[in-house]
Amino acid sequence: MKSVPFGSTGVNVSQMCLGTMMFGDRTDEAEAGRIVDAALAHGVNFFDTASAYAQGRTEEILGRLLQNRRDRVFLTTKVNVSKGAEYTDQIGPSLDASLARLKMDHVDLFLLHWARVGMDPLAIMGELAKVVRAGKARFVGCSNFPAWLVAHFNAIAAANGYPKLVNNQVPYNLIERGLEVEILPQAVAEKIAITCYRPLMAGVLSGKYRPGQPPPADTRAASDERIPKWAADHEAGLTKLFALAESRGVPPSHVAVAWLKDRPGVTCPLIGVSRLDQLIDLLRAFDLSLTADEQTSLAAAFGTEVKEVSQYYGPLRRAFGMIA
Ligand SMILES: NC(=O)c1ccc[n+]([C@@H]2O[C@H](COP(=O)([O-])OP(=O)(O)OC[C@H]3O[C@@H](n4cnc5c(N)ncnc54)[C@H](OP(=O)(O)O)[C@@H]3O)[C@@H](O)[C@H]2O)c1
Repeated sequence: MKSVPFGSTGVNVSQMCLGTMMFGDRTDEAEAGRIVDAALAHGVNFFDTASAYAQGRTEEILGRLLQNRRDRVFLTTKVNVSKGAEYTDQIGPSLDASLARLKMDHVDLFLLHWARVGMDPLAIMGELAKVVRAGKARFVGCSNFPAWLVAHFNAIAAANGYPKLVNNQVPYNLIERGLEVEILPQAVAEKIAITCYRPLMAGVLSGKYRPGQPPPADTRAASDERIPKWAADHEAGLTKLFALAESRGVPPSHVAVAWLKDRPGVTCPLIGVSRLDQLIDLLRAFDLSLTADEQTSLAAAFGTEVKEVSQYYGPLRRAFGMIA
């Protein structure tokens, strides 16, 4: 597995980040263990988790699986902010609870999981600085933040000598393309690592959901009613994806991941699997490159870019290299 620079940190991570959201949910601990072993054996050293996953079970499982090999991974977790609670009050306690579940003394990257209305950026950056100073997190970042908010938080960090947000973790795939507006250009200009979750649109881009056919048993579609709707809404794009995959002799999942990993500004796709065979399969997607024509015609078939009428302003919001 190729390794890539992680934003401005000076650290290199594997281009595949292993998402663990299914551990303790659809994936039992024995299968999670096989997935972790295989990931490490194939050079995947970047793992993503969150305190919210499976009510903390995911972190507990990961902690047991990584015992005695903690130093082999660059591990991310995310703050848990319970409803009605102040964000600022939750940062330290949430990380302490994560570290207890993980049985570790630090994580490599600690993320604000979601932006919220009514946040206090100065207090939040101050709390994040404390966890870095205490050695409980090497770096801090955010998830699901609009570009202006990352800039705002980082201006406050700079003015106060606090560590800045080095990563924004956002949804990106052939169907969800909102971050092409301002977030990717900002990431390149400011060296913010972009990690992309939902690369297969929860499985829709894997080819397992075929238009007009009921979802196969034992898939996430059984508990997520958005999945069949996404498959039906994007039939034209999926038809093109399946045809392109067939012409290249690979599964549609490989084409979807290959498209994503090569998008400008993208650091790492977050690969979430529920079974070992899915991981083994997707490792190969990182060896596939699409031609420029294939990338363009595939994206055009989905037609999911953010639509803007303005002929001049729209392109500016997607332009790289605005600052010399
Ligand atoms: N920051 C955030 O707010 C946020 C939100 C969501 C996720 N995440 C992170 O991103 C990671 C990935 O998200 P995601 O799970 O939604 O990603 P995804 O890649 O869009 O969906 C993963 C699902 O696709 C199916 N799949 C995976 N590999 C496959 C293969 N080779 N062949 C066929 N089907 C395959 C599996 O579905 P079945 O289980 O149905 O087989 C799997 O559960 C998570 O683990 C988590 O770490 C972060």
